[in-house]
Amino acid sequence: MLEQIELPLQYKIGNEKIDEQHTQLFIILMDMAKLIKNDAKKNEKQIEEEMNILLSSLRSYTQGHFQYEERHMEKMKYPDFENHKNMHKAFVDKIFDIQKNALKQKKEKILVLREMASYLKDWLMNHILQEDKKYCLYEKELTQQLISENKMKAQSPT
Ligand SMILES: [Fe+2]
Repeated sequence: MLEQIELPLQYKIGNEKIDEQHTQLFIILMDMAKLIKNDAKKNEKQIEEEMNILLSSLRSYTQGHFQYEERHMEKMKYPDFENHKNMHKAFVDKIFDIQKNALKQKKEKILVLREMASYLKDWLMNHILQEDKKYCLYEKELTQQLISENKMKAQSPT
């Protein structure tokens, strides 16, 4: 069961569903940070088990979230859609690469988790603040445009 946290205001994009999904990703990040902080109290096996749970949550949450966001952008015919979709793909690929390299190099689990948490943190913050806010702004402008077009239609004589 995931706990509830409040997303810092600057990370809210104003779409309730997407803000909620971003919150879940921040919760996963916080859980990763907790595991890293308490690693000395746990053995390699426990760390591996907890890490696997966190990684599968991360995979399923990002998959669902990216799909939702992409459908949302497609619906409003967002011009930068392809580019944004590629950034989502690059994220998924990077997480996969970290895992693949870790297995190949037989890296210590906690080091892999540190690498992932640091990548997730930077990615989430930059992506939300820059890229997600861009489509959000586009959506606002689109809504404004539709409102003024409708007003004009209502005012013009038939
Ligand atoms: Fe996004």
